[in-house]
Amino acid sequence: SLPADLAGRRVVVSAGGTREAIDPVRYLGNRSSGRQGYALAATALARGARVTLVTAATGLTAPAGADVLPVESAVQMREAVLEARRDADAVVMAAAVADFRPAEQAPGKIKKTGAGPKPIELVENPDILAELARERTAAGQVVVGFAAETDDVLANGRAKLARKGCDLLVVNQVGDGRAFGTEDNQAVILGADGGSAEVPHGPKSALADRVWDLVRDRLPRV
Ligand code: C5P
Repeated sequence: SLPADLAGRRVVVSAGGTREAIDPVRYLGNRSSGRQGYALAATALARGARVTLVTAATGLTAPAGADVLPVESAVQMREAVLEARRDADAVVMAAAVADFRPAEQAPGKIKKTGAGPKPIELVENPDILAELARERTAAGQVVVGFAAETDDVLANGRAKLARKGCDLLVVNQVGDGRAFGTEDNQAVILGADGGSAEVPHGPKSALADRVWDLVRDRLPRV
């Protein structure tokens, strides 16, 4: 049986891939399945935490017992996460948040005009993780990010950890069918303290448990 080592803790997990509307029927999306985030929510619940799951679109059923906040876009996710994490002990951003969104959403379905396609202008989305890390809302609040890298995994991971200012960064190697949409995962978890932990290829729930181990070790005693 699992230790209830997160009993009395409140955690927020984001999951899924955001959808950035182009018009009422189309969006820019990504290949995130949401499985890693849902595994994080499920394992935290099993270890006794109160869990708020802020979820963008997935085909998954939320684990029983989680407080679920469904969102669609990055802007909506930011609102929900900022509100949910107010008195949280830890926030884990496992969602694949779109870096860009269409500058404007067409009020009606965009039609073919015969004059060829129109370019879609993009604007940058807010970086939720960086904001969470910059402005903590509880003493000792632990902030965790995920990074999917295709090359120079460690160097890019270290740079991203520093840039985002989070406490832990879970770095996945993606591409060639790895990680996205699969059942298994393999990662290196980098710490702002300079530490790193390799998590061998295995189920997303095993990676989730390693993340919670490292979060737990960083939480202030109660
Ligand atoms: O910069 P990059 O997208 O690689 O960063 C990934 C991490 O940052 C993930 O934890 C993701 O949830 C988070 N993120 C975010 N807001 C964004 C982009 C990414 O919180 N706009």
